Amino acid sequence: MAAAQEVILSGIRPTGRLHYGNYFGALRHFLRLQEEGKRCYYFVADYHALTTITEPTDIYGQTIEMLRTYVACGLDPRASVIYRQSDLPCTAELSLLLGMITNIGFLERGTTYKDKMTKLQEDPRAEGNPLSFGLLGYPVLMAADILIVRADKVPVGDDQRQHVEMAMDIAQRFNSRFGETLHVPQAVGRDALRLPGLDGAAKMGKSEHNTLDLLDDPKTVLKKLKGVPTTTDPEPLDTDSNDPDVVVPKMPPGVGVLYRLLSLVAPEEVYLDFLERYRKGEKFYGDLKKTLAGHVSEFNTPIIERYNAPDNTPAAVEEFLRENARRVTPVALETVESCRAAMGIGHSLYRA
Ligand code: TRP
Repeated sequence: MAAAQEVILSGIRPTGRLHYGNYFGALRHFLRLQEEGKRCYYFVADYHALTTITEPTDIYGQTIEMLRTYVACGLDPRASVIYRQSDLPCTAELSLLLGMITNIGFLERGTTYKDKMTKLQEDPRAEGNPLSFGLLGYPVLMAADILIVRADKVPVGDDQRQHVEMAMDIAQRFNSRFGETLHVPQAVGRDALRLPGLDGAAKMGKSEHNTLDLLDDPKTVLKKLKGVPTTTDPEPLDTDSNDPDVVVPKMPPGVGVLYRLLSLVAPEEVYLDFLERYRKGEKFYGDLKKTLAGHVSEFNTPIIERYNAPDNTPAAVEEFLRENARRVTPVALETVESCRAAMGIGHSLYRA
């Protein structure tokens, strides 16, 4: 008998528009795993989105929008199982069960919670949903996401690694207390490319308003790139390496972003040629921005086309979400039922 296929799972926050940071930080890894023929579960963490909102937000609309872009980028809802967390409400039930064996002290060490706590200590009037039960329980819900489909591997960026380790911990605790029930997953790192923002800030992010977006048209791309702050005097690079990981951090921030992007979307010789010009201390930023804009637009054009394709409608997204929720539900219910039984409340006699 062939070995069971490895199950990969990752969650995506519903952010609406997708930017280059999302693409090169996460989506490109999802696509690679999908192409390798792994059994991939990718879901939109819409319950998790509720842990930080302070007013009614169209999370549903943002989810659909974002998935249209994911599909345009090549994520295939037939090859990968793409669903919404809230379409699998038994996740919330599992989260409740797991919460029964999770210490508060353990959760208080969670990064999301700690960050919020620090912010509140710095500024007690900071806006936001202050230290809600839901926020404290963020890692428990995330553990439920992972454990419910019996994931083997969870590819996440560095910022989420601790949460995956907490899920492993919770699963082990459950098993040692109630007998082998849950499958203990593994965290797998993805190469931690954190794209800088177009303003030169360390991170490209939606709330920082410094993003280059996958759906930006050529005019917008050019305008955004022209606005990237560049110093006129390149500082000498004290290295012979051409590796963007080495050279980009040595450049002034705005210039670094341009080179990083160039290394991602342009042919290598174009990148190397501009690096050479940097080393010679030429004045060429106008040219660099224009060349980069051309390559970015070439990257975006097919995505924009597929985004607008007649079969990529909100209704089509809804349809595959419904279908995929149907595909994961049996596995998920089996997990929840086995946890119920292990804990002693027995199987459910009725499910709405
Ligand atoms: N917390 C993750 C993030 O902010 C999203 C997420 C929710 C997730 N549940 C998950 C990721 C389960 C991996 C596995 O990006």
